[in-house]
Amino acid sequence: MLFPKTRMRRLRTSEAMRRLVRETALSVDDFVYPLFVREGKGLKEPIKSMTGCFHFSPDTIAAEARDVAELGIPAVLLFGLPAKKDAAGSEAWAENGAVQRAVREIKKAVPGLLVITDVCLCEYTDHGHCGVISNGKVDNDATCELLAKVALSHVQAGADIVAPSDMMDGRVRYIREALEENGFSDTAIMSYAAKYASAFYGPFRDAAESAPAFGDRRGYQMDPANGDQAMAEIALDIEEGADIVMIKPALCFLDIIHRAGQRFDRPLAAYNVSGEYMMLNTAADAGLLDRDAAMMEMLTSIKRAGADIIITYFAKEAAKKVQNVK
Ligand code: PBG
Repeated sequence: MLFPKTRMRRLRTSEAMRRLVRETALSVDDFVYPLFVREGKGLKEPIKSMTGCFHFSPDTIAAEARDVAELGIPAVLLFGLPAKKDAAGSEAWAENGAVQRAVREIKKAVPGLLVITDVCLCEYTDHGHCGVISNGKVDNDATCELLAKVALSHVQAGADIVAPSDMMDGRVRYIREALEENGFSDTAIMSYAAKYASAFYGPFRDAAESAPAFGDRRGYQMDPANGDQAMAEIALDIEEGADIVMIKPALCFLDIIHRAGQRFDRPLAAYNVSGEYMMLNTAADAGLLDRDAAMMEMLTSIKRAGADIIITYFAKEAAKKVQNVK
């Protein structure tokens, strides 16, 4: 097997040869595109902290969803910003909230596009935490009750998949029971199963106006130092009724994606978060790297690690690239 009998470079001699032996190929089927919807009319406002992303209103979001579907992307993930916030985040389950209306608009205009909704309270609470506060702490079980109401309101509006991102214990079970009791036994849950307390959510918190007013999220989101714990979180969510499990963020956690991919027989999603997106954009804007090449390398690495689904703000551009659309 020694040199010169073996020369690894033989299989790198041309683009056709490299294509022939390539182990990982991104597909448009892998992508989910996140969208932000807020109260208002006729809105398509650029989000300052996230280049190329916009705040839509319920009446403008269907046109964007149609563009996404036309690129072949199978799903969008909706985040909502309410008109007003309160201690419990009650707009999160309002029948005519921005997300609920957006879901109806999108399902009417583009029924074939999957609509996934983020289920959390942090955009809706006046204190910015992902649940209700009692005695200065996020109350787990009281929050789960509310999250089940939020999920149900999304599904009643037509959501195909609900995605709880709060990291309360037991919330998948509460949501699964609420869906079963109300006749939505076919609705899928994609749980943010291993969600880390990450610094890479910075640009999103600005976009979603959801930074916590006091403290941080380390009392419920995972410590980035832990891997075994991620396996336990994922196993629990599957037992409670999650159909798809997610790891978030992606790039600092490729080892976690790899371990989960080897271990669990469920579709595995990875969230290529706002900080990862903007880190690349900012470096490209500064002329430090080739944006498209870096984007494809980033997404390919997430798939190579073991993700079946990639949630990414690059979805539209990457969809064009993998399909050679100009
Ligand atoms: C909140 C939520 C966050 C993200 C998705 N859902 C932020 C947070 O937990 O603070 C981050 C997404 C991103 O950074 O792209 N429930």
